[in-house]
Amino acid sequence: MGAARGGRRSLLWAAVTAVILVVDASYVHDLDDSFKENRKDDIWLVDFYAPWCGHCYTLEPVWNEVGKEMGGTGSPVKVGKMDATSYSSIASEFGVRGYPTIKLLKGDLAYNYRGPRTKEDIVEFANRVAGPIIRPLPSQQMFDHVQKRNRVFFLYVGGESPLKEKYIEVASELIVYTYFFSATEEVLPEHITLPEMPAVLVFKDATYFVYDEYEDGDLSSWISRERFQGYLNVDGFTLYELGDTGKLVAIAIIDDKNTSTDHTRLKLIVQDVARNYRDHFNRNFQFGHMDGNEYINSLLMDDVKIPSIVVLNTSNQQYFLPHKPIESTEDMVQFINEILEGTAEAQGGDGILQRIRRIIYDAKSTVGSVFKSSPLLGCFLFGLPLGVISIMCYGICTADTDGGSDEAEMPKRETGRDLTDEGTEEEQEEESGESHVEYTDVAETPLL
Ligand SMILES: *[C@@H]1O[C@H](CO)[C@@H](O)[C@H](O)[C@H]1NC(C)=O
Ligand SMILES: *[C@@H]1O[C@H](CO)[C@@H](O)[C@H](O)[C@H]1NC(C)=O
Repeated sequence: MGAARGGRRSLLWAAVTAVILVVDASYVHDLDDSFKENRKDDIWLVDFYAPWCGHCYTLEPVWNEVGKEMGGTGSPVKVGKMDATSYSSIASEFGVRGYPTIKLLKGDLAYNYRGPRTKEDIVEFANRVAGPIIRPLPSQQMFDHVQKRNRVFFLYVGGESPLKEKYIEVASELIVYTYFFSATEEVLPEHITLPEMPAVLVFKDATYFVYDEYEDGDLSSWISRERFQGYLNVDGFTLYELGDTGKLVAIAIIDDKNTSTDHTRLKLIVQDVARNYRDHFNRNFQFGHMDGNEYINSLLMDDVKIPSIVVLNTSNQQYFLPHKPIESTEDMVQFINEILEGTAEAQGGDGILQRIRRIIYDAKSTVGSVFKSSPLLGCFLFGLPLGVISIMCYGICTADTDGGSDEAEMPKRETGRDLTDEGTEEEQEEESGESHVEYTDVAETPLL
């Protein structure tokens, strides 16, 4: 009797969970061939996946949550997923080259999502990109509200003008990264003074900066440069994004959990330079810190000690290490000036020798990780020199292609490499400096 009741109860539970699962998934539309015809009137957020891909599998529960959130809040954005291997011709028309690829499709435009794959980040992206490109701020309360909620945002102040047209044009592409607002002068707090009108401002780092066409060059590159806070917690993904700014990245490599003064002081020095030397260095440098040296070591193929300072040139993969320990703000300023003057010695780079080093390094770490995870398999595979040789050939072939498949993979490094992970090849490409090539095609027009 008791057992029967228990059995019935678990059956009931199973039914309830099944219903919940179905409800969850029902917010996510399974897309097929007909999507191409039927999508036109709606805004779609689509996960292009492959059944065999591990990252896609990880994304699935997150994606159901995203669907639920968008559906539940009455968002106009429809959430779908498409097996890009079954409908490969459609997927390739949308420019899908890696899995999973997340795109927001709005009319003729397709916006790629490249941020962290969490529900919050994806929902925020969808709402931002699906909404108006320029959001008007009608009152000072609205302005205050926006300022509280956003670490960085851009604001156009003034009426119709050629500058505004330019602003709209730039925003329609860069909306994938940040928010764009417009307001009249009356809406601004009194302490904000504008040298001339109309104006474009960026609000960040508890202050604001005004765009100056003569000093700052064209609006688009100014916005690309200014969309980051002056000081950042840098991870692999941020570093990849920063490549777009053309700036050198000065980072303190520290252990975030180590409270000894060695670590905290270095961080404070970099923060100090970022804030108080902005006028001197902001055009050429981005500042921040990175937790741990694992990522940076594999990027530089070197052993960077913790704590220390590294300055990276994201355009050519060169880097600079101070020749003496940085102990004060003055030391740091001097180091940066040496880099600017060209007297600091550059290491690394993207020359042919470095590429060969990279291939060997990657082959070595791949072999290493196989041995670590499965020594027997390792012996079997790499005991044969053939294995090594074929990996090197493979490396040589992929090193010369222009990052064809790196599109959707984040270069964020998890501990250890996983040979069976489809991300590995793509991650390596991003590190080898090919990654920034196609980074500008954020908003692309599919041929539909
Ligand atoms: C913190 O860093 C110092 C070196 O800067 C090191 O000697 C110390 O062992 C570290 N402490 C911890 C808890 O890791
Ligand atoms: C960084 O790399 C770019 C591209 O090679 C180069 O033009 C620039 O001079 C480099 N910057 C420094 C400070 O070496």
